[in-house]
Amino acid sequence: MAGNIFGVLFRVTTWGESHGEAVGAVVDGCPPNLELAEEEIQQELNRRKPGRGQGASPREESDRVEILSGVFQGKTTGTPISLLIRNRDRKSSDYDALASLFRPGHGDFTYLKKYGIRDHRGGGRASGRETAARVAAGAIARKVIHREGIEVLGYTVELGGVTIEEGSRGDIRGNDLFCPDAKAAVKMKNRLEAARREGDSLGGIVEIRVSGCPAGLGEPVFDKMDADLAKAVMSIGSVKGVEIGAGFRAARMRGSQNNDPLVPGGFKTNHAGGILAGITTGEEIVIRAACKPISSIEKEQDTIDLQGNPRKIAVRGRHDVCVIPRVIPVCEAMVCIVLADHLLRQRTIS
Ligand SMILES: Cc1cc2nc3c(=O)[nH]c(=O)nc-3n(C[C@H](O)[C@H](O)[C@H](O)COP(=O)(O)O)c2cc1C
Repeated sequence: MAGNIFGVLFRVTTWGESHGEAVGAVVDGCPPNLELAEEEIQQELNRRKPGRGQGASPREESDRVEILSGVFQGKTTGTPISLLIRNRDRKSSDYDALASLFRPGHGDFTYLKKYGIRDHRGGGRASGRETAARVAAGAIARKVIHREGIEVLGYTVELGGVTIEEGSRGDIRGNDLFCPDAKAAVKMKNRLEAARREGDSLGGIVEIRVSGCPAGLGEPVFDKMDADLAKAVMSIGSVKGVEIGAGFRAARMRGSQNNDPLVPGGFKTNHAGGILAGITTGEEIVIRAACKPISSIEKEQDTIDLQGNPRKIAVRGRHDVCVIPRVIPVCEAMVCIVLADHLLRQRTIS
């Protein structure tokens, strides 16, 4: 199946389905002599695990990562790094009732149209489970960019219609929604609980900030930094919109408002979100990802069966109510992968 490889010099392939034996990633192009321990990847995976926070599903995926290759005596060797995460908490019977129905909002209909065959157990490749492999690969990318002083941090700015107060800078680790506005986090949790009671789901927005990124990364014209970031983040299931900097707000501004005046030492403002003409400016990179509400809901909805007959569906398995906060480490991972790739690409010309 094509479309499972991302990146040019720092290349990530993910493989596996949610109810298969395992999911995993192969990272090719990682520089040698980078210290790498399973435990460091594990820490990132633990942030994505189900069962964390109010919006999470009660699935118990243990998400234990094993490094199969590419690391010798605790250091990367420059050869492909293969990462394996076994699927331990498979309860495929949860999906028996869905074998002949299409879940509205999920990939069931489109996967069958494309391949003429579909693994109905948990959504197969379209499952959020695939993102465990991205997070594992992203942990390695993070190490590559961290050496250069680049930090990537994601947090919740909106959930279920509750928005944080602009400029909130509270401790994102102070609540399990990774929200910098503690008051807003309480409201968000209440909305999550209400949606869960109603058998429904919610969406939200994640913001990702990159600090310490040098100016000059990004490859005009088709591999612009903003284009690659948008693709990376949009490729995550449930993400329906990506903004960089002022994003859609820029369309409502005048040039005199949107331009970031240059001053000795940098830029006065950062509406560009750290990228101009697809190349990083050296300012903070600011990305926002809009996530739709989880499609698998207990509330009854209209659908059709494989023969096209009208049917009703209520999805009762173990599902998240909202993709936030679990999607945050996934967004961070994809951003780390893009930055690691562009960092290596920049080295070929400088
Ligand atoms: C971390 C993560 C967890 C997810 N958990 C679920 C889930 O429990 N149930 C569900 O229906 N969708 C879940 N999704 C969303 C689906 O993967 C996604 O909606 C589906 O692949 C269809 O793709 P689209 O929403 O981008 O169109 C999750 C996504 C992510 C990133």
